[in-house]
Amino acid sequence: MSGLRSETIVSFRNLRKDYGEITVVPDFSLEIRRGELVCLLGPSGCGKTTTLRMLAGFVSPTSGEILIEGQDVTCIPAYKRDVGIVFQNYALFPHMTVAKNVEYGLVNIGMKRQERGDRVQDMLRRVELQQLAARYPRELSGGQQQRVALARALALQPKVLLLDEPFSNLDAQLRVRLREDLHNLIRSLEMTTLFVTHDQEEALTLADRIVVMNKGAVEQVGSPEEIYDSPATRFVAQFIGQCSLLEGHILDGEIFSADDGLTLPAAGQTGKATAVIRPESIKKAHEMPSVHARRAMIEASDYHGALTRLHLRIGASKLIMDTQFPVGQKPTSGEEIDIAIDPRGVRFVPALQ
Ligand SMILES: Nc1ncnc2c1ncn2[C@@H]1O[C@H](COP(=O)(O)OP(=O)(O)OP(=O)(O)O)[C@@H](O)[C@H]1O
Ligand SMILES: [Mg+2]
Repeated sequence: MSGLRSETIVSFRNLRKDYGEITVVPDFSLEIRRGELVCLLGPSGCGKTTTLRMLAGFVSPTSGEILIEGQDVTCIPAYKRDVGIVFQNYALFPHMTVAKNVEYGLVNIGMKRQERGDRVQDMLRRVELQQLAARYPRELSGGQQQRVALARALALQPKVLLLDEPFSNLDAQLRVRLREDLHNLIRSLEMTTLFVTHDQEEALTLADRIVVMNKGAVEQVGSPEEIYDSPATRFVAQFIGQCSLLEGHILDGEIFSADDGLTLPAAGQTGKATAVIRPESIKKAHEMPSVHARRAMIEASDYHGALTRLHLRIGASKLIMDTQFPVGQKPTSGEEIDIAIDPRGVRFVPALQ
């Protein structure tokens, strides 16, 4: 990362938001660097939109500070913050054409007509909407409306771009395509971006860093790989991707013994722990001959096309495994299978209290 990119653009410092008696965000701190794409990920109601809106200036924090490029903006109104926002429902002006929607903010800041025209053209070109400049929002598809909202937000060349669930109104195929387009656009503009989603795949594919939130609190901040491969908590392990969770103890710092008898090599602190095993870390025994094989019972299988997800049981331990079978061969419930658990794919998180 270049020196420029390591410059902090946004700082949230001990931000708190109460609505009456209810604390929605207890204590949120985060720094976002120039050009970074940071994602707030968490279940519905965990405070993602509230946090985003505090940065935009639409919700005032109960306490704490927000800085943009080092300037305290906590008490500065939204329109003076240099922040571009794309709302979940896009919030386009229905009586204005696409071009007028994009131009709107430029008129407000008093930009000259010629410059405005050039800026609007440039933005429409970037989001590939030049042909639709004269249309009204009602004459556009959901994906096209989203691109207008994006062009409108970017036209003002904000210091930071905020996106709240930008793909939630779109069908699955369009989501994936627009996600790639958005990624490329944000990258080409080196736009500092904070986006909100409850979709883990969206977060994993788009973000430089993910902030996993749970009930207003930050559970973990890290790159997609860190979040997926080394979850810090049970909540993160379960919220992002699939996993098997085994309760047990680490003995002498080197063996994990699950409460129901299954043992695994472990490097960790002696005491109570929960083992997290991702489905792809469980293999058919012959695929990993160097690892001790165990016999498991297939309780159920789900066909996912490219792979089959097996629900296994060893003693009382339940495990999830992703694997493949030759065409025409289907695993049956009650059948036994020899498996190997890749020790490199096992992580330990604090156990339930
Ligand atoms: N104006 C308000 N008054 C009272 N409570 C509110 C207000 N706005 C939000 N809340 C509450 O704050 C909590 C967090 O809401 P928020 O919209 O930030 O969640 P979210 O993480 O964006 O969820 P979703 O994924 O469903 O959009 C919720 O419990 C919500 O009911
Ligand atoms: Mg929300």
